[in-house]
Amino acid sequence: MTSASAPGKIILFGEHAVVYGQPALAVPVTQVQAHVQADLAADSETDQRMGDGWADSVRIVAPDIGLDSSLGRLLAERTTHPLAAVMMGTLQALGLSALPPLTARITSSIPVASGLGSGAAVSVALIRALADMLGKPLSDEQVSAIAFEVEKLHHGTPSGIDNTVVTYARPVYFVKGQPIEIFRVGAPFTVVIGDTGIAASTRESVGDVRKLWEADKPKMERLFAAIGSIVRTARQAIEGGHPEWLGPLMDENHALLREMSVSSPELDRLTDAARRSGALGAKLSGGGRGGNMIALVRQDQVRSVTYALMEAGAKRTIVTEIS
Ligand code: PMV
Repeated sequence: MTSASAPGKIILFGEHAVVYGQPALAVPVTQVQAHVQADLAADSETDQRMGDGWADSVRIVAPDIGLDSSLGRLLAERTTHPLAAVMMGTLQALGLSALPPLTARITSSIPVASGLGSGAAVSVALIRALADMLGKPLSDEQVSAIAFEVEKLHHGTPSGIDNTVVTYARPVYFVKGQPIEIFRVGAPFTVVIGDTGIAASTRESVGDVRKLWEADKPKMERLFAAIGSIVRTARQAIEGGHPEWLGPLMDENHALLREMSVSSPELDRLTDAARRSGALGAKLSGGGRGGNMIALVRQDQVRSVTYALMEAGAKRTIVTEIS
């Protein structure tokens, strides 16, 4: 038996603009995790089933999404199932043509379709569990590259930020197509995450931003550039040990995301409630339209901001310290 876990993530600054080459800052959220346990079948079965139908002897159980299937069955579906893509991508990276009979059990406490990186975290945990089980661990770079290919199924044209931050499980300053930069947190700070409870498709919000960009490139590129400069200022504030400067930057970033049409009444209600209850700043995080928002708080404000978010309709909150 081998097992592996991967954390969730939040984007502190820069979502959407990052798809167009601007930088973004993302951090892992270890309070929520995806977990995969891979169990090899007994030896006798292994001998019998390494032939052509090997994929029928690979069982994938994911109770959270009501899945109990064989890899063979998932591969026969008309559209590629992300979990099948993870397994085939891992095999390819390992230079193998078949998996031995096994059962992969997938559980996750990361809400799906909510901007917390659940898809990437499941991919990363599954890749690592399989590679370790086969005695061929992969480098972080390889793990992230496989997960990136799978993100394309989830998101269409992902920037790669989710798979990167989830794989490295460190604060990341991310620019699409460039080597990753881990950033230093000069002084720890606290963020309350509020979940609208509304599942939202990142593929759709990214697609809508693309339509707006196609319709008016100069305007959208001005918005992207404004977000890019917020991200650079925020990185300096974090590295310099001045997280309190992030509040107004979050508010500005949220306003720009609103202009890009990716906020929603629920996200606006939660960000307003956070600010009114004393948070230093708040913004949506991730693809938007639903999913999660984040609020920057001082330690002594955690309770009041959490309460205000729940009162304003949040389905759950997570408090995370970034350090
Ligand atoms: O997976 P989410 O919902 O956190 O969104 C990822 C962030 C986007 O910038 C909206 C898309 C991307 O691929 O970078």
